[in-house]
Amino acid sequence: MDANEVLNQVATEVSTCLKCDLHHSRKNAVPGAGPANAEIMFIGEGPGFHENEQGLPFVGAAGRFLDELLAGIGMQRNQVFITNVVKCRPPGNRDPQNEELAACDGYLERQIQAINPKVIVTLGRFSMAKFLPNAKISHVHGQPVRVKGRLIVPMYHPAAALHQPSLRSTVEGDFNRLPELIAEAGEAPELVEQEQPDDNSNEEPKQLSLF
Ligand code: URA
Ligand code: SF4
Repeated sequence: MDANEVLNQVATEVSTCLKCDLHHSRKNAVPGAGPANAEIMFIGEGPGFHENEQGLPFVGAAGRFLDELLAGIGMQRNQVFITNVVKCRPPGNRDPQNEELAACDGYLERQIQAINPKVIVTLGRFSMAKFLPNAKISHVHGQPVRVKGRLIVPMYHPAAALHQPSLRSTVEGDFNRLPELIAEAGEAPELVEQEQPDDNSNEEPKQLSLF
């Protein structure tokens, strides 16, 4: 299967997935959107109200801010792949639970393997925790870290900056460094085998800050 086929297959599977309780309140699953050859992948938390209505990621207020941030670095949404750690909306936008994150992780892993982006930007603490389980976002935001050969850049969630205006310039500053990080990231790691969903869940990734 080529990358597009994997992404389509994942989208088909999540639309009828029953692996966790979030399927009960789902109107539309939100598999993610963007080109299969994207060099950069953004991973948020989970669909909110508008995303659940439309089946597309980041189409509400946080999404508009994300578009602005992208525009600020001369990028458009159709150049990047955007998805979430859970593909179905947590009721009332509550935090995703550990069981839900674990149940959904295989889909995200398949997307990462298929796209094999140079850089993954995590938006918010739940997607950060997938790669940097013990990191605190207030300490590590904006700092690139190599995890299994790939550059991970943890950032605050855009919605956090909307709720807490003092974070706005922090998020903008972190974003503005992205072009430089992408340029210096080098190639994505060579991936030969499918990773097991939780083969490193208890392992501390090496935090090699490169820049
Ligand atoms: N917040 C997220 O984390 N993901 C979305 O898709 C929308 C809002
Ligand atoms: Fe399946 Fe993920 Fe939706 Fe849970 S959140 S039902 S694991 S697609």
